[in-house]
Amino acid sequence: MIFALDDFEAVARKRLPRCLYGFAANGSERGASVHANAQAYQRWGFMPQTLVDVSNIRQDCSLFGRRYASPVGVAPMGGCALFAHRADEALAAAAHAQRVPFVLSAASSTPLERVLEVAPATWYQGYMPGEEGPITSLLARLKAAKVEVLVLTVDVPVASNRDRDRRLGFSVPLRPTLRLAIDGLMHPRWLAGTFVRTLLADGVPLLPNFSAEGPARPIIAAPSPVARQHRDRFTWDHVRLARRLWHGRLVLKGVLSPADVGRAAEAGADAVILSNHGGRQLDGAVAPLDVLPQAVEAAGAMPVCIDGGVRRGTDVLKALALGARMVFVGRPMLYAASVAGQRGVEAAIQILRAEIATSLALLGCVSADRLCRDHLRAL
Ligand SMILES: Cc1cc2nc3c(=O)[nH]c(=O)nc-3n(C[C@H](O)[C@H](O)[C@H](O)COP(=O)(O)O)c2cc1C
Repeated sequence: MIFALDDFEAVARKRLPRCLYGFAANGSERGASVHANAQAYQRWGFMPQTLVDVSNIRQDCSLFGRRYASPVGVAPMGGCALFAHRADEALAAAAHAQRVPFVLSAASSTPLERVLEVAPATWYQGYMPGEEGPITSLLARLKAAKVEVLVLTVDVPVASNRDRDRRLGFSVPLRPTLRLAIDGLMHPRWLAGTFVRTLLADGVPLLPNFSAEGPARPIIAAPSPVARQHRDRFTWDHVRLARRLWHGRLVLKGVLSPADVGRAAEAGADAVILSNHGGRQLDGAVAPLDVLPQAVEAAGAMPVCIDGGVRRGTDVLKALALGARMVFVGRPMLYAASVAGQRGVEAAIQILRAEIATSLALLGCVSADRLCRDHLRAL
């Protein structure tokens, strides 16, 4: 039975091939940042106010001129098509139906134009090359598709060291091996419901959203030179270039240091998402929550969002009380999609929303946008 976000993980873990579950769950190297993300939330306690009329709790919020039902969003995740049939559409449609933001990953498998038809307010997350030509053409494609919010992920200048994935025989790009085949065969529900169903309906999943150039490559092919496009040369100069060329909202995801948050504001970003990529990039990178107060100070008027390790409504409340404007959730949404597609993701968002409402009432805070530092004590 599903009562909390962690329950989706328990079911997904049984249903997914080991290597695939590991690819989602594991962090890089020793998993120190995955651990830090979860621990960071335990270092804050609540200071409830009693005898407050909490019969009318509110958690709706605004960002970038749009009204959202809750201050939570679905983080961008690549490779989702391996976890559930048409997972990108399921995630987008669920977020749309529940009126929360969804960020489509560059490494998604449904053309972004189709996702925007299903869910017109979808944000797009891109990996930008350190070269002007491909930046210009990608921005033109996004503009034509009427993307409103562009999220640039800046914590992946190079691929990280995921030795646990390699130990399970999993790599990006995916290389079909006997070991992976046996892993798949031992998980018949995933094999029939995701793998065979996807192959029959859509063929091998492609990666059509990395750039505006060339034909989309299959998820099992080596990344094209265009896809990598000197990402290791992407710098603040390119952020400023993207800012000059991009008409919509520009968000930088994967900054952690307050100094970088200040630079993002100076470069004209509309927001940042404090993130260590769910502990999947630099192992040992600090938990975003631990630097949130300083980041908010450095940001001035620019909104600061956050992700990493958020599993409960109380986690959302803590991040909001420390100054976050929107809190993004990654893995639990992917597990929910793998368990029950769009229905699963909608259920996950509803569980989080119910937990936020209950916790606000118990805290004696009538509206999520009134959360502040006074509601917390460092433990
Ligand atoms: C399977 C998987 C794939 C991911 N792919 C991307 C991606 O393509 N782009 C990106 O910016 N972040 C990606 N992330 C990181 C998430 O956007 C987010 O930062 C992280 O998952 C948040 O931590 P949480 O999973 O603990 O909620 C991915 C995360 C997972 C689990």
